Amino acid sequence: MVSDSDAASRIAWWRDAKFGLFLHWGVYSIPGRGEWVQWNEQIPVDEYAKLAQQFKPTSFDPEAWAAVAKDAGMKYTVLTARHHDGFALFDDPGSSFTAMKAAAHRDFVADYVAAVRKAGLHVGLYYSPLDWRYPGFFFPDLYKASADELREQYHRQLHELASHYGKLDIVWFDGGGADWLGFGGVEFKGGWHARPKGQDYTGLFSWKDEEAVADLRQSQPAILVNDRTDAPADFRSREGDGAMGDFDNRHPWELCTTITEGAWGYQPNAEVKSFDQIIKLLVGAVGHDGNLLLNVGPRPDGQIEPAQAQRLKEVGDWLKIYGQSIYATRGGPYMPGDFGVSTYHDRTIYLHILNAPNKILKLPALSAQITGCSVLTGGKVNCAQTVAGVDVSLTDNPSAVDTIVAISISEPASSIRPIRTKDEASAVAPVAKKE
Ligand code: GLC
Repeated sequence: MVSDSDAASRIAWWRDAKFGLFLHWGVYSIPGRGEWVQWNEQIPVDEYAKLAQQFKPTSFDPEAWAAVAKDAGMKYTVLTARHHDGFALFDDPGSSFTAMKAAAHRDFVADYVAAVRKAGLHVGLYYSPLDWRYPGFFFPDLYKASADELREQYHRQLHELASHYGKLDIVWFDGGGADWLGFGGVEFKGGWHARPKGQDYTGLFSWKDEEAVADLRQSQPAILVNDRTDAPADFRSREGDGAMGDFDNRHPWELCTTITEGAWGYQPNAEVKSFDQIIKLLVGAVGHDGNLLLNVGPRPDGQIEPAQAQRLKEVGDWLKIYGQSIYATRGGPYMPGDFGVSTYHDRTIYLHILNAPNKILKLPALSAQITGCSVLTGGKVNCAQTVAGVDVSLTDNPSAVDTIVAISISEPASSIRPIRTKDEASAVAPVAKKE
């Protein structure tokens, strides 16, 4: 992780933002079988490349994307500028596989950045150093020239993205670092083979991630990058609904997941997650002191599926009412437990009761004095404080997806040491600092 003196102030907006929109969109959206279609179906590179000649989105409207994100209460967006298939949504004179050279003849990244910025949201780009078209990626020591060419592409494209689109707020890396390097790396039997899990790359090749990211930071001093390269990162990425993991208020982190079941890239008729599922993901992430980056895979024509936009709007409507318990909060001081999670802002603690079987919730003692207590989601509550603990008694059984109890206290909640509500190994700073 980064350790420079500006790290905390650089990431402050992001910590307050909590909720972002991830967009996986590229030529893989055309077959509609997910962004891994080339790999999964072992489509030969030349054949896959033909998709570019069909890539001419008729409904690409980045202002509409930004509006979807805004209506969802999201504060930032991250678009796949280039995924593992190598197709660049931007203008890279050094590559033949770009949106400018595809049927569209358009720099989608330029239009996207302008629209998102205009909407007042923070702008992020996803970039994959990994590119399946290069055998050097799989066997860097065997195909040294190809690996060198791939690294040259990575550094060059990153430099181009950093130089030609104005201020960027996030570069979201995926598929870089020694973790991925030499993806096949071990044996080659006429096809692509993944290196067995846990078997580290031991060869001589390096992405030189530190150099690439230092160059990025040079022209974009406020940029935030995640931890999927070997360069120092501003925040950590956790991936998938099952990866919520432990409470961690020491390292900024973000859970990314999809709004649908299945892949990140477009799949027709993919089932959209329910409102309750998404609220639980959002509240869960924020209560564990992280962010949520929720993904949509727009259709090949550029449009976000109306059913997905509708679901996002429902989440935004909820946030309009209860956003005070989410935005600009930090997770805690009650650490996640069977009941749900808690968040705080200044002298207010928000209990997010996600699974309370009955009306009384018994919590461990609180060092600050309780000065008030109310239920934001309806009904009444009594909070009885003793040296032994806090008994939260609701008049009604919690029925909302998230029953939110606001507890006012006599001192800033940031001065309270995080309180365990169950046994769990978490990364906890003694006093959660506003970073
Ligand atoms: C993965 C996948 C990918 C997706 C990403 C999002 O690493 O390779 O397709 O873009 O995760 O987190």
